[in-house]
Amino acid sequence: MKQMRNVFRRAGVLAAVVGAAALLLPAGGALAQQGKLKVGLMLPYTGTFAALGTSITNAFKLAVEENGGKIAGREIEYFTVDDESDPAKAPENANKLIKRDQVDVLVGTVHSGVALAMAKVARDTNTLLIIPNAGADDITGPLCASNIFRTSFSNSQFGIAMGKVMAEQKKKTAVTLTWKYAAGDESVGGFKETFEAGGGKVIKELSLPFPQVEFQSYLTEIASLKPDVVYVFFAGGGAVKFVKDYAAAGLPKTIPLVGAGFLTDGTLEAQGEAAQGLLTTLHYGDGLNNPKNNAFRAAFVKAYKVEPDVYAVQGYDAAQLLIAGMNAVKGDTTKRAELVKAMETAKLDSPRGPLALNKGHNPIHDIYLRKVEGKENKVIGVAVKNLTDPPRGCKL
Ligand code: BEZ
Repeated sequence: MKQMRNVFRRAGVLAAVVGAAALLLPAGGALAQQGKLKVGLMLPYTGTFAALGTSITNAFKLAVEENGGKIAGREIEYFTVDDESDPAKAPENANKLIKRDQVDVLVGTVHSGVALAMAKVARDTNTLLIIPNAGADDITGPLCASNIFRTSFSNSQFGIAMGKVMAEQKKKTAVTLTWKYAAGDESVGGFKETFEAGGGKVIKELSLPFPQVEFQSYLTEIASLKPDVVYVFFAGGGAVKFVKDYAAAGLPKTIPLVGAGFLTDGTLEAQGEAAQGLLTTLHYGDGLNNPKNNAFRAAFVKAYKVEPDVYAVQGYDAAQLLIAGMNAVKGDTTKRAELVKAMETAKLDSPRGPLALNKGHNPIHDIYLRKVEGKENKVIGVAVKNLTDPPRGCKL
């Protein structure tokens, strides 16, 4: 009997403790939300885009550290996958992070083909996805989704800007050269659109498979075509090699080379003399003199002992966007509609300048005209102010 009374007393105490604990919990059954926030980083850490993936990762983590190492009070657990810039491996890699590691948010990637596959997995599983580079136009166009955001750009934006600038400079003929995949096709497509609308003519569109870097036969063809200008899309290790090969072929003296800013971003140390004077268009430049950029650059150099590049800016902004959304829901990812609304309407103080998103969740930002001077992509003008993409079939 005494034993029975003790059991009931213990049960009563337990019930009281559980009841009191329940009163202390935030409303909305948020018990599961008090654990670590799982962030899946799916980026290239090997291959021609390896440095880009590292830069994004470092800057994302820097923004989180500046936020006290937490997001909306939750500690962060990172899960990392090297996507090798290989679209064929992308569904399996994304599913590893979503199904095996159960990440709350997926951040990636650099390569448009990989990102298109990630976006499909994110849509199918309703996983929150933030893209810190890959510019495939369709992701924030006809394939847009409420759970998919981008803090970088869409591929056509820089071609559109450079086509306009070259037409204004009265260039009459152009040859384009790129890796043959979504990023290159869309970049060159943007150039052709505005260059020809401005009175120019693209006389030849050249391409080679990603990530090949045997440029010699293309340089020979360019030399014989003698266009007024050459527009290219290359990035990472491929951009380093292309700029050096173009200079070694003696072409810059007679045929100016221009491109989307990736041609000279994060690459100048390796390109050296070969890159001097090149004109590119991008949403970032090294010498942008705004307080956020100055603070960001100083903090990045302090943390990583290297200068940041455009990829770092985009990774930093991916974290800033996530923080804005998570703060609005006090860390409760189950409040998806409110989280999405806060991310959609966020006004970020980006190192590039003010950053807002359009209906398809793609950045609206200024596109700068830059010129390589020494180790810097110096901003020499604004090629297009507040560039935003046309809706392109996005139904959001
Ligand atoms: C892309 O594949 O979308 C991409 C890769 C590198 C730089 C810019 C864009």
